[in-house]
Amino acid sequence: MGLRSALRSLLLFIWISEQWAKITADNCTNYRLQFERVFSVPGDVAMLNSTLVSPDVFDYKTVPYNITWWNLKTGQEMINQTDKVFVLRETMWFLNVTLEDDGEYVTILRTPCHCYMQSTKLLVEMPASGECGRPQKAYQELTKGVADTLNCPLMGYIKKLHSYNISSSISWYKGCDLVADGTDKYTYRGQTLLSFDMVDSHDDGYYTCTLTFSLGGFRGSVSETIVAPVIGLNFFMNPSKFLVTMECRIVGSNFTKKCLVFVPGPGMSFVDVTWSAGKDYILNTQPSERIYTSGQRIWTQDDPKGFWFETHLSFTELRDEDFNINYTCRAHSFRGYPEAFFTLVPADPNIILPIGCVLGGVMVLFIATVTVYYIFRVDLVLWFRRAFPILYANKDLDGKVFDAYVAYPQQYAFGFREEVEKFALQTLPQVLEKACGYKLFIAGRDCLPGQCMVDSVEENIQASRRFLLLYTASTFISHRHTSSTSNNNNIFKSDDESVDAESKMCESSTDFDSGGYTDTRQHLECVAAMHRALLERSLKVVLVELEEISSDQLSLFPESVQHLRKKQGAVCLWKEFKTRQKWRTLLMTRKDEGLRKDSLLSASSCSSSRFWKEIRYHMPVRGKRVAYPEKTTLLNV
Ligand SMILES: *[C@@H]1O[C@H](CO)[C@@H](O)[C@H](O)[C@H]1NC(C)=O
Ligand SMILES: *[C@@H]1O[C@H](CO)[C@@H](O)[C@H](O)[C@H]1NC(C)=O
Ligand SMILES: *[C@@H]1O[C@H](CO)[C@@H](O)[C@H](O)[C@H]1NC(C)=O
Ligand SMILES: *[C@@H]1O[C@H](CO)[C@@H](O)[C@H](O)[C@H]1NC(C)=O
Ligand SMILES: *[C@@H]1O[C@H](CO)[C@@H](O)[C@H](O)[C@H]1NC(C)=O
Ligand SMILES: *[C@@H]1O[C@H](CO)[C@@H](O)[C@H](O)[C@H]1NC(C)=O
Ligand SMILES: *[C@@H]1O[C@H](CO)[C@@H](O)[C@H](O)[C@H]1NC(C)=O
Ligand SMILES: *[C@@H]1O[C@H](CO)[C@@H](O)[C@H](O)[C@H]1NC(C)=O
Repeated sequence: MGLRSALRSLLLFIWISEQWAKITADNCTNYRLQFERVFSVPGDVAMLNSTLVSPDVFDYKTVPYNITWWNLKTGQEMINQTDKVFVLRETMWFLNVTLEDDGEYVTILRTPCHCYMQSTKLLVEMPASGECGRPQKAYQELTKGVADTLNCPLMGYIKKLHSYNISSSISWYKGCDLVADGTDKYTYRGQTLLSFDMVDSHDDGYYTCTLTFSLGGFRGSVSETIVAPVIGLNFFMNPSKFLVTMECRIVGSNFTKKCLVFVPGPGMSFVDVTWSAGKDYILNTQPSERIYTSGQRIWTQDDPKGFWFETHLSFTELRDEDFNINYTCRAHSFRGYPEAFFTLVPADPNIILPIGCVLGGVMVLFIATVTVYYIFRVDLVLWFRRAFPILYANKDLDGKVFDAYVAYPQQYAFGFREEVEKFALQTLPQVLEKACGYKLFIAGRDCLPGQCMVDSVEENIQASRRFLLLYTASTFISHRHTSSTSNNNNIFKSDDESVDAESKMCESSTDFDSGGYTDTRQHLECVAAMHRALLERSLKVVLVELEEISSDQLSLFPESVQHLRKKQGAVCLWKEFKTRQKWRTLLMTRKDEGLRKDSLLSASSCSSSRFWKEIRYHMPVRGKRVAYPEKTTLLNV
């Protein structure tokens, strides 16, 4: 028994030596083992690709060549084997990997006058029991709170198959569960990407992508697993404490500058904060040195969760050579190297305000100017428009018919309120149309119920320069589906695929949603406008908030509205009345002469109140189109 197997190994050894002698006798240039190992598991497809066919090795475009693959373990040439091995030029495929396939494989490339060889290693491992992924894992991070993607590391396979004119399909798994394409969270993008709508901490985990294809009549697949930890946003330097600055100092004085870095995220991060003078790192940490850095101080913060890193740069005595150099504080981490710097400017001890300090003053002044602009921007812009109409292009030629499309909850829809309708149908046209000369499209006025269907809503929105979305706290708040509302939804679903796809933008975040804007026309208006505003960016949506919204109520709003409100803010009517009565009571008493005293509707309302100013600020510029009808008295109408 022992003898026979020993004899067999001996024969095998002799045979391999012979084969090997043949190969080496050819005086092949040996490129040795490829650095890239191929990892696989039993049952998968594995591709071994030789890199000898490259311009670095020989002129493969003009010189003819033959390639053979050899198994170093058995000394045999690798040939096509049904459902097992497929050899095509510089690439060898194991169609159904087994543990025995583990080993080194040699490629021999012969041209008429030369020979090249290279070996490639295949490592076959058993997956851990109970684990769906692969033992070898790639590492990709997901950033919390934003949209992010994972990239399947199988592009090499896809490209190779593509060069054979073979198509392949990819599917993603989280742990063992299939991640379906096009669910509210995940989308398959491009050839290899899995994109996340918004990453949250539950997305942490193992993701496996599986590529399936047919090769040589065999249907197989190959998988890769990615470890995807969810991490906090990129860190930032504390801007209030560390700006790009100039410091005025006197030669001979001492000086210390603090660098603070904040790294958001729950886990401890490995961050090194360094100082450099020009290009040279300051490595001294001893206070006995003239220039030194303090050790790194670290502490945590709870809200938002994260870590602070602090390092000081100190000069015990400033000298001439220390001035006019960039001192850079840099945070080193695997996420990047953000940095900030300052420069020292010599201050003449005899002059009280040296140049550098004046420059510092200029910066402060600049910040103040920016702030002033932000506070008074509405008035400034309106004044500018009136003072220099010539500067603004005439909008009449842009092919639009209306200045704004006005949307509000309609009668019979949930969230409908009489006072809102009054505001939309009476107050708004009185001020914007009669006093300010804008042309509005108001659905409840300009088209009859039942007339405003998909096409006309789309058309009219397209013909408008702005979209005014009026809402109150209850406008988007949900109520349970009734049979009639679900019927309505179905109509729109079958009507237009794209409306359906985007409709989730206008649905509130709760499960049983069907708020005022999720039914019938309002829903369409909202969907079409949000689509244009957020995806195409071709329409400006102005949010008009009629009553104060608490953060609880806001969280029930459709995500698109929440997003827009956060991004550009809303024009708030309720702010006008906060100190006075409730706007609702005011509007309700319109019939009774109470309105005459109401500044909201006074003759000069087109320019006077903050609310209308803000609306006009958001409305398109009217250029030189009409004389300014500011003096129109509208209460006689
Ligand atoms: C082997 O290759 C070397 C260099 O490429 C060459 O000088 C030598 O003549 C070759 N020997 C044979 C036997 O081809
Ligand atoms: C395979 O090797 C060839 C060179 O021989 C190279 O051009 C090609 O990009 C490689 N393909 C992959 C998928 O690595
Ligand atoms: C490649 O192999 C074919 C047949 O095996 C042979 O006729 C041809 O000469 C070889 N070409 C080179 C460059 O070795
Ligand atoms: C294996 O089969 C393919 C397709 O039939 C063929 O192109 C290729 O040359 C074969 N390889 C070998 C080493 O016979
Ligand atoms: C791969 O090989 C194993 C055993 O060698 C066999 O049981 C299995 O069915 C094969 N897989 C495919 C897809 O042919
Ligand atoms: C690839 O396949 C398509 C159809 O399957 C065919 O029309 C095309 O000619 C093929 N291209 C090559 C390069 O074989
Ligand atoms: C820096 O100088 C000031 C006086 O100019 C002195 O009070 C202070 O102790 C000095 N600091 C250090 C660290 O030497
Ligand atoms: C300091 O950095 C700024 C911005 O990177 C650069 O413009 C400037 O030339 C630098 N000054 C010196 C002295 O290196």
